[in-house]
Amino acid sequence: MCGIMGYIGDSEPTKIILEGLAKHEYRGYDSAGIAVIKDGAIQEIRTTGRVCQLAEKVKETGFTGEFGIGHTRWATHGGVTENNAHPHISSDDKVVLVHNGIIENAREIRAELEAKGIKFHTETDTESAVQYLGYVYDGDPKGAIVKLTKRIRGAFALVIMFYDKNEEFWVVRKGSPLVVGHAGHEGFCASDPTALLEYTRDVWFMDDDEMAQITREGCKFFDFNGVEHEKKTMHLDWDSAMTSRGEYAHFMLKEIHEQPDVMTHTLLGRVANNEVDLSRELDWTPEQVKGWKKIHFVACGTSHYATMIAARIMETLGNFEIRTEVASEYRYMNIPIGPDTLAIFVSQSGETADTLHAARLAMSKGAKCLVITNVRGSTIHREVGDALVTPAGPEIGVAATKTFTAQITILTLLGLYMAKLRGELLPEPEKNLVGALMDIPAKLSRILDQEKVIEQIARNFADARGFFFIGRGLAYPPALEGALKLKEISYLHAEAYPAGEMKHGPIALLDKELPVVALVPKGFLWEKTISNIEESMARKSPIIAIATEGDEEIKHYSENVIYTPATEPELFPFIAVIPLQLFAYYVARQRGCDIDMPRNLAKSVTVE
Ligand code: AGP
Repeated sequence: MCGIMGYIGDSEPTKIILEGLAKHEYRGYDSAGIAVIKDGAIQEIRTTGRVCQLAEKVKETGFTGEFGIGHTRWATHGGVTENNAHPHISSDDKVVLVHNGIIENAREIRAELEAKGIKFHTETDTESAVQYLGYVYDGDPKGAIVKLTKRIRGAFALVIMFYDKNEEFWVVRKGSPLVVGHAGHEGFCASDPTALLEYTRDVWFMDDDEMAQITREGCKFFDFNGVEHEKKTMHLDWDSAMTSRGEYAHFMLKEIHEQPDVMTHTLLGRVANNEVDLSRELDWTPEQVKGWKKIHFVACGTSHYATMIAARIMETLGNFEIRTEVASEYRYMNIPIGPDTLAIFVSQSGETADTLHAARLAMSKGAKCLVITNVRGSTIHREVGDALVTPAGPEIGVAATKTFTAQITILTLLGLYMAKLRGELLPEPEKNLVGALMDIPAKLSRILDQEKVIEQIARNFADARGFFFIGRGLAYPPALEGALKLKEISYLHAEAYPAGEMKHGPIALLDKELPVVALVPKGFLWEKTISNIEESMARKSPIIAIATEGDEEIKHYSENVIYTPATEPELFPFIAVIPLQLFAYYVARQRGCDIDMPRNLAKSVTVE
């Protein structure tokens, strides 16, 4: 939530900062601003709306400076107004900063400073930090920041400039992501490493309770007591070309189309001769794996649905005792977690605050923890250590698509590997399932070939009042994901239910304006799902069916059939999700929605 960027060097700072903010826009996009140091004074420009509107304003006014900081906002405290937009400047014009996070004791600090006569100008929590810094600043930036870190509570990534320091800016981190880079005579910081790829691929990920001074000459790192320490860079294995939209109308569409390749890359090096081998990444022994009596999957949103699929697949592979929990709930559950627990945290971004806090809790209770993330070096990766990194490349669309496919691929491999180490999976079923997994990317490409059919069906239903998504067994979690995609980007109400559960209440809502998307693959639950389709039809709900190629009978129930290639029943979620993503995409497109940056959402949710 919120994206921040800082630059010092010989290039035009507003250009670099605007380009960086554009790459951060998926983190928040209700207002934006830049501050620079120019002729020994702080100057700023802000606007409500998008980074492109800020760029227009910069161009019109000829706004420029020597170096600067910028921000794109996802409002937490205070409405979406220009006045609440960052950067914020202290009343004495000595300090300016941008902030990502929440300052929890902002009211208390504000009251204290107002009592001392300092005037506040915004409704934001951030202003308490800048006013406090202005109040304590006496020409020593490091000393003032040390005092600030002892006064504020909450989560914060801050980038700070001081009016009389014409050769440096400062960054501070506790709880919100921040990455720093340096190349030649240029220093950078950003919330997201993708913003730095153009300039350097060797970066420093800031840790909690750490601050840094960035100058043209280099970066110096300090703890919150101001004591300097050495810090190692991390090499990013992404490149800047991966962050371009190419020929696609939206990042989401590009990322949907990348899925066959992403899945192939995820399998690469982890399977050979139809067998799974994760020993290069996990040094687990059979004894250890047998010792983990409980498996907890913890995640949020789409990543949570990926874990539901993993759990169901794993239950078919071995005798596992599994819980899948939403991270924001896991933290407050009174359940036994200990050394006999393997807790698996799944987070595309690796920065989701709820998941990170849940991981800290499990670590503190002695559980063995593992992370599945798409961002090497992300906070959760660094803190937990043991990880399987999905090679999906940067995902820019706010709605997760390709990372979901990568997650379910790697989680399926993990399930197979664990069942094997536990001695519960025989070679033949392993070979069969791995073989079937390796066939999936080609099947995904075949589904993508049907894009026009899916687009037409989506157009036909774009004016619906809302949608139900139903499925049974392994068709239920993808139904949840399909409904989430649709509500995120089209703003239509969409609800997913296990098909058999509809009659216990939700069926009361059905009528001719509420279509039902039924996931009905051929298999032992086909007939039962058909019964639920009949029940929906009896209430006049139009049916959109996701069915298996060759299923002619389904046409008796629906004029809107999206056919998917046949696969092993366990792997149906892989096949089901692409039609659902495309359906959501084209409904949203028909409705004229802002697909890559849906309202009220942010890609990386770094507040609790
Ligand atoms: C998915 O489309 C959403 N943007 C959201 O539900 C997301 O999956 C969730 O916030 C978890 O994010 P993470 O995987 O980065 O932790």
